[in-house]
Amino acid sequence: MSEDNWHRVAAKGEVAPEEPIRVQVGEEDIAIYNVDGEFHATSNICTHAYASMVDGFQEGDEIECPLHEGRFNIKTGEALCAPVTDALKVFEVKLEGDDILVKV
Ligand code: FES
Repeated sequence: MSEDNWHRVAAKGEVAPEEPIRVQVGEEDIAIYNVDGEFHATSNICTHAYASMVDGFQEGDEIECPLHEGRFNIKTGEALCAPVTDALKVFEVKLEGDDILVKV
């Protein structure tokens, strides 16, 4: 059984507020967000159909899917409005100096 590990995915300066970036860790396609200077990570793939969340619209701690405008809470992954019903997977994030690390 494999254990979760911390992976460096970006420098803090690479993730601007409300401009999430996409990173790949192993098989996980992950979106990294800056919410008021705090960094968060979710699955990058919408739970409704196949869409990349980083192509959507971030407002504060919510991300809107670019395809059908479903919205999720970035911090919890919670699905907030139709047509999305299933939460986005979220990943733990920590900082080391200027580096953003994600537990996968
Ligand atoms: S694919 Fe995201 S709301 Fe439909």
